[in-house]
Amino acid sequence: MITKESKTALITGASSGIGQELANLFAKDGYNLVLVARSTDKLNELGGRFWDEYGVETVVITKDLSEEDAARDVYEQVKAKDIKVDILVNDAGVGLYGKFANETDWEKEKALIHLNVLTTTLLTKLFLNDMVARNEGKILNLASLASITPMPLMAVYAATKAYVYNFTQSLVNELKDTKVTVTALLPNATDTDFFNKAGASNTKVTENLDDPAVVAKDAYNALMKGSHKVIPGGLGNKAQEIMAYMAPQEMVAGMMRKTMEPKKEHPAEENTHKAAWAWGIGLAAVVIAGAAVALAYSNSSAYDKARYRYKAGKLKSGADATYEDVKDSLISGLNSVKDAVSTAKEVVAKARETVASALA
Ligand SMILES: NC(=O)c1ccc[n+]([C@@H]2O[C@H](COP(=O)([O-])OP(=O)(O)OC[C@H]3O[C@@H](n4cnc5c(N)ncnc54)[C@H](OP(=O)(O)O)[C@@H]3O)[C@@H](O)[C@H]2O)c1
Repeated sequence: MITKESKTALITGASSGIGQELANLFAKDGYNLVLVARSTDKLNELGGRFWDEYGVETVVITKDLSEEDAARDVYEQVKAKDIKVDILVNDAGVGLYGKFANETDWEKEKALIHLNVLTTTLLTKLFLNDMVARNEGKILNLASLASITPMPLMAVYAATKAYVYNFTQSLVNELKDTKVTVTALLPNATDTDFFNKAGASNTKVTENLDDPAVVAKDAYNALMKGSHKVIPGGLGNKAQEIMAYMAPQEMVAGMMRKTMEPKKEHPAEENTHKAAWAWGIGLAAVVIAGAAVALAYSNSSAYDKARYRYKAGKLKSGADATYEDVKDSLISGLNSVKDAVSTAKEVVAKARETVASALA
């Protein structure tokens, strides 16, 4: 029973990982909590600690959110306890590793879709309806950087996260004349139990994981500001977003496939995926340069069009040279991430020069 006159956050998936870090931040800021997951003991333990350390109250709802009607049942339990949910965090989610055609199990995939998509959607609908009626409230939905890239070997998981991201961005627009905000969180691979539970603990992606405490902190700040999305962590994660939008999907899928392959299966390719990201950033820069020239071209006079045709020719040779440079360095093997980053920087600088000269 929540008795204190204080705001309440409902967090699904608070028994571990990012959800638990988020619960810590809310408790520290004086929020009462409704925590939902299957691990009752872990949630009770957290609730006890939050009371001792921060004097906030916690209601635990034990629920398997991959079951039919789970979302409605949680909502009804909250209503029956007369709790007003000011903030909803849809964090609970799982992944599943393997080739879709013949390695993954349909029953597990169905439960995954139910949890990641259906429960997230219905919880959002039920609580959002109340928030809009009060004209206040906030929702944080756990998407992923995989929301904007294909993810071979975790195809269904990435597709569910694409749904969550797209759904959230549509709601951002629908809610723009209200005081209710929705925020999508797009973490990169993060150091939680996620990959282990998904059967992907031996993959290359797990060699470079973000800190869940940092992910939660960035998410918390963005949620409080009412941002429509947040990519937590450093610049590398933001660069991956640009790359995902600019590079051809086939190429992105190929790179993601490499990160999802088992560790050390191809030792010679250890740094390839990092170099490949650099390649992608370079390619993206060239594409931006091309788009800038095209834009300038479409708005120009006949005389200028002739100039732009000449400059576009130069850009094409620049792009070809860039492609060859980066391909050569890839083939000869980049020995460190530092090499990859400096190559990417050079490529971006080259593309920027080309844009500047094309527009001069
Ligand atoms: N880790 C990453 O690399 C990463 C990257 C991008 C996005 N994400 C997303 O972040 C969210 C949190 O994941 P995490 O990394 O923190 O993983 P995690 O440590 O495994 O936490 C997952 C949470 O979801 C809960 N959960 C799982 N299945 C459930 C079910 N059927 N019913 C109720 N609760 C369930 C778990 O609680 P119980 O087991 O107690 O039920 C746990 O609290 C997920 O939506 C995930 O897709 C993770």
